[in-house]
Amino acid sequence: MSSTPTANATIRINGPLPGANARAILERRDATTVRGLYRSCPIVADHATGATVTDVDGNVFIDLAGGIGALNAGHCPPEITAAIHNQVDRLLHLCSIVGTYESMVQLNEKLHEIVPIRGPKKTLLCNTGVEAGENAVKIARYATGRQGIIVFEGAFHGRSLLGMTMTSKYDLFKRGFGPFASEVYRVPFPYEYREKIDGMSTEEFCELRIRDLKKAFVAQIDPTSVAAVIIEPVQGEGGFVPAPPAYLRALRELTAQHGILLASDEVQTGFGRTGKMFAIEHTPGCGTEWDVDMVIMAKSIGSGLPIAAVTGKAEVMDKPHIGGLGSTYGGNPVACAAAVATIDYLRDHQLADRATEIGDVCRDYFSRWQAKHDTIGDVRCLGAMCAIEFVKDRVTKEPNSVLPPLIVEEAFQRGLIMIRAGLYGSCIRSLVPLVITDDQLHEAMQALEAAIDAAVQRAETT
Ligand SMILES: Cc1ncc(COP(=O)(O)O)c(C=O)c1O
Repeated sequence: MSSTPTANATIRINGPLPGANARAILERRDATTVRGLYRSCPIVADHATGATVTDVDGNVFIDLAGGIGALNAGHCPPEITAAIHNQVDRLLHLCSIVGTYESMVQLNEKLHEIVPIRGPKKTLLCNTGVEAGENAVKIARYATGRQGIIVFEGAFHGRSLLGMTMTSKYDLFKRGFGPFASEVYRVPFPYEYREKIDGMSTEEFCELRIRDLKKAFVAQIDPTSVAAVIIEPVQGEGGFVPAPPAYLRALRELTAQHGILLASDEVQTGFGRTGKMFAIEHTPGCGTEWDVDMVIMAKSIGSGLPIAAVTGKAEVMDKPHIGGLGSTYGGNPVACAAAVATIDYLRDHQLADRATEIGDVCRDYFSRWQAKHDTIGDVRCLGAMCAIEFVKDRVTKEPNSVLPPLIVEEAFQRGLIMIRAGLYGSCIRSLVPLVITDDQLHEAMQALEAAIDAAVQRAETT
């Protein structure tokens, strides 16, 4: 479908999508790239800036996927690319196991300013989210002398053997890839929309879910054998499901009682996405009255370069023996320069506050669409971490996993790049760069509304 650009419109579609140049490259991708690597939409990018991507046929899209949450600071912010260029010309690689360069130390120092953990902190720099999560597990096991790790239904922690083991959503992420790692236990996540019984308060529901964990201490593993609980404060792949603050506080109390470490996986939620630098900060008193032991970070820390980190309490992080941790490229100088510049950029431009504004706009639109489409079961926005969950029936909440792929397809035809989410594949999500302008945001929402209307109509007629 082609659309006529209006005077101030950002989206520009020149002809049928994908265009001829994109189709040629997509054919080569299909011929050379493994089938198992999914692609959400047929965008073939040429260049990108802010919240927009221009494809190889000159079409301009608004990017609601944001590199799956890696682009909070937007595509190619000049201050950050300048820092990368500067580093590229001076030092590409040394290896932090071999020696030291200032940018790795600077990054650690900046992380220690923003990570809401009390007292002395230490950091290990890694390459990817899954690697940071694995290192958090290694450190927790070493520090406690225990082996058990507790994770949640609906969780996503990455695709390595241990990351995949800790991840939920069996059919998509795990089928055929076992056997999995041992000593990983799973409990229900406090998924209010799906599981809170009518009439129950959030506090009562959280108490119920905490009882599940207490039961796991009897039915699955003795608490004295548990090294850590790892939780996403808002589940990402699981469908942007927030853990209520009451649950996080109770989880902290219970884990502390048993000498169990608590790690927050902020790979998707971190760096301003939810309206705070880290999502756990939505729980009152975080960083002053209570804290977690470790924070796992990746994605938007590096504005598109591969870098990740685990920051935690120094007495925990420093337990493993010298030489027990590290990797060839973890905290590479160029990635560190990008991350240092990214943290400055996020703070200078107050992008966490901007995330709250973006979330308010999205929630308004989503709620209006919910009023007109029975198939919209829930809308969830914590800052600019925004999702719509589709159901076949609002009473039974039977997931509707047919609509999201149709919406992604229709949205692409209208100039939007977007992705799905959800344990049942029944959500669409927005991780739009936080530098999106108001005009672009309204334009994107109008295009998304048209895409949802068209997809609902298609689903009804097929
Ligand atoms: C919460 C969470 N943890 C870990 C990961 C894995 O990160 P990576 O793909 O960088 O390994 C992801 C990726 O989506 C994530 O959302």
